[in-house]
Amino acid sequence: MGDRKTFYITTPIYYPSDNLHIGHAYTTVAADCLARFKRMQGYDVFFLTGSDEHGQKIERTARDKGMDPLTYVDKIVAGFEVLWDTLMITNNDFIRTTEKRHEKVVQEIFQKVYAKGDIYKSEYEGWYCTPCEAFWTERQLVDGKCPDCDRPVELMKEESYFFAMSKYADRLLKHIEEHPEFIQPESRRNEMINFIKSGLEDLCVSRTTFQWGIPIPFAPGHVIYVWFDALVNYLTAIGYGQDEEKFNKYWPADVHLVGKDIVRFHTVIWPTILMAADLPLPKQVFGHGWLMLEGGKMSKSKGNVVDPMILVDRYGVDAIRYYLLKELTYGMDGYYSEEMLVNRINSDLANDLGNLISRTIGMVDRYCGGTIPAAGASQSLDRELIELASQTYQDAGRYLEHLDFSAALGSIWKLISRANKYIDESAPWLLARDDSRRERLGSVLYNLAETIRITTILCAPFMPTLPGRVNRQIPLFADPEKLDWNQAGTWGLLQPGCQVTKGASLFPRIDPKVLEEGGDEPTAQPETAAPAGKESISIEDFARMELRVAEVVAAEKMKKADKLLVLKVRLGDEERTIVAGIAKHYAPEDLVGKKIVVVANLQPAKLRGVESQGMLLAASNEDTVSILTIDRDLPSGCRIK
Ligand code: ME8
Ligand code: MG
Repeated sequence: MGDRKTFYITTPIYYPSDNLHIGHAYTTVAADCLARFKRMQGYDVFFLTGSDEHGQKIERTARDKGMDPLTYVDKIVAGFEVLWDTLMITNNDFIRTTEKRHEKVVQEIFQKVYAKGDIYKSEYEGWYCTPCEAFWTERQLVDGKCPDCDRPVELMKEESYFFAMSKYADRLLKHIEEHPEFIQPESRRNEMINFIKSGLEDLCVSRTTFQWGIPIPFAPGHVIYVWFDALVNYLTAIGYGQDEEKFNKYWPADVHLVGKDIVRFHTVIWPTILMAADLPLPKQVFGHGWLMLEGGKMSKSKGNVVDPMILVDRYGVDAIRYYLLKELTYGMDGYYSEEMLVNRINSDLANDLGNLISRTIGMVDRYCGGTIPAAGASQSLDRELIELASQTYQDAGRYLEHLDFSAALGSIWKLISRANKYIDESAPWLLARDDSRRERLGSVLYNLAETIRITTILCAPFMPTLPGRVNRQIPLFADPEKLDWNQAGTWGLLQPGCQVTKGASLFPRIDPKVLEEGGDEPTAQPETAAPAGKESISIEDFARMELRVAEVVAAEKMKKADKLLVLKVRLGDEERTIVAGIAKHYAPEDLVGKKIVVVANLQPAKLRGVESQGMLLAASNEDTVSILTIDRDLPSGCRIK
């Protein structure tokens, strides 16, 4: 298969100064999503990640812990690999800059650039930010501190080697201008153009004040500047100087995916080193935004980090990957909170996707003995769904090509919502009651199963365990581990006649209480949004409805709405607001203290700007309304069944 198109994608190699957090997980999950997508399209993908182990900061951190640097990083790097396994990252190699293979390549490139005359010896005086491993000139400092991280810098003066970066400024600028795709998104590109135009200085590429680095072969006592060392990893891993065939197959890289903090290193230092080494430049550097916490940027050195291992353990790998890729919109910053994560799981995964699948399987089971029926003639409602599926395939693919993960998911979710609405519009439970409408019922259920097949393929790069889990309930794929992206582009590939197996819901609802209780195990809750209509229902269907006793603690009339009352009710230790259309029949004060019955898992709805978090039950005829109460005293929160 030597003639398959290749795709080489990298993440930054992270510093093992401490364990990684969800910011790092974001980059790696995004790169993995793209790598999976490209593999599904038939590309020969090489996906690289690794660890950046040299430098003063690691040396100091290890020394503070009384360890030698390698022993210290060994342990942390082992943790990286466990994390990537847990997040189902499919990297083809993991490079550590302390490996012999890498040391050799760095020395070779350094030597090559030196021989060319682009590395020279001089004296360095400047300001160094150790956490960022970056030099700054006096002029670049902001209030005497590092302009990137706002931490103190140290004045360094020593004999050093310099890389003649300034010499390449014009060529670099020309390259950036002629290749608009080289730096993406657009805003980063403009930033970098301005940065280069403001003048490039030569770069100090050696240190003598510490030892933990790759030695310059011809200059004892000097180690190579950590960014020179780190960037070269992208060459080492694909066999530079070792395996020319492999190297030529994958270089230049298709995309270096990085955070916006290190775009400058990848679009100024890296391309100029490559120019000096007479190597082609990577096709693209993509700089994504920051995942922030309420208190600002997450950072290992600030200590306000979120451990992705704990989140995966609590919510599952598909949910975490979905959330990360959905939350950071194209190139921009986004906020992380566990509350938003739980909301997304409950609304997008449990409600939208999970319900589409469980409703479809439930109906195939109930109305067709579990066998996926064949479709009959299609109606305009069907054609609309089929067209949207084809559009979604196009859109999701196009967005992924542009690393717009959030928009790709947005387009897939449009299809999912459309399919859920299609169920309500075609009301299969009514069709099932009428023998003359068997064929129509078959079409509806087939179309739903086919939409699930397409959706599952499109979701596979984002949620790697989904296809296997869906397949256990509907056998859609011969091998759920090896899906072909293009098969989402053709309607009708699903063969009727296969047998569904009802199973546990794919995305159980998370009780938001887990957040208040400080992260207990999530508890599965019945799903919301039962199908409308008056079909006969099973006991399981009834069990999906969560009826509870609620005590009214306050009630008032809604302003400018003569029919509505706004109630505050207590359900156990939870308090909720419920809007009820009973103002013409009950005075607010008549209700306070009453124990009423509410549907507790109804999707919240806004009425005149007030969110109603449930519905009270009442019986009525033309002129009387009577709310339901309980006839023996029980505490609020009790389940009704
Ligand atoms: O810079 N939001 O390593 P590093 C989003 N060793 N992404 C984040 C993030 C956040 N809050 N925090 C970290 C280095 N990242 C060098 C790289 S490459 C030749 C050498 C991600 O451990 C993001 O990708 O500081 C960022 O660029 C990277 O981690 C920095 O990782
Ligand atoms: Mg950093």
